[in-house]
Amino acid sequence: MWRDQILALIGVLDEEVPILRGDITVPAEATHSGFTIATGTYKDVELVLAKCGVGRVNAAICAQMLIDLCKPVAIVFSGVAGGLMRNMAISDMVIAGHLIQFDIDFTAFGHRHGDLPDTQRMIESDPEFVRIAGDTFDRAFLDATTEPGLMTGTVVSGDPLVKDSETLRLLQRAFSALAKEMEGAAVGYNCGLSGIPFVAIRGISDGASETADTNFKEKLHTACQNSYRVLEEFVPLWDGLR
Ligand code: ADE
Repeated sequence: MWRDQILALIGVLDEEVPILRGDITVPAEATHSGFTIATGTYKDVELVLAKCGVGRVNAAICAQMLIDLCKPVAIVFSGVAGGLMRNMAISDMVIAGHLIQFDIDFTAFGHRHGDLPDTQRMIESDPEFVRIAGDTFDRAFLDATTEPGLMTGTVVSGDPLVKDSETLRLLQRAFSALAKEMEGAAVGYNCGLSGIPFVAIRGISDGASETADTNFKEKLHTACQNSYRVLEEFVPLWDGLR
């Protein structure tokens, strides 16, 4: 183990973070600006774990704080998302190859939705991490009786919770997006500014349609468990490859 090489894990909700937190050995906790950071080791890897809360503002603050205080060499972001594809089942998984802030709108100045004035809209996950996340998915569900599906591709981030078919179709078609969530692009953006490799892994909790709230309540736990199973395998595989 490389004691000076810290991997940061960020989750969004109370339902997600304690699953991992429960497995960290000798956890020490500190609260900074309202964000609780747990430090410890997991499968012999030195980790920091934080819950960022919902939305891009929370996610950006939390990611930057971890980068400044803990100097992680990489960040893995995990959580749930609304699925945008018809052939996607709730509890399937998505690995974000790219993320787009779909609600950034500089179209008045000739930019496409999602483009910042001086930056392209695609926020890229680290390609090697995307590959490792795919491998860890295969390992995590090797013996599972019901294996979730996996897709890798574009995920859109924005502050509204999407729960209507018209918006979901628009997001899927205008951005070639597989899923919609509310934080990943912010974490990826900060990681890009600091040159830190990053990947976002999402469990599908709902179909982003009119039943999104009911689906979300019913399936949140399963979606979080699936994300956790991938993270559980990701951590040692990442360590072994360094
Ligand atoms: N996260 C989980 N489900 C979502 C949805 N439908 N819209 C935005 N973020 C989500």
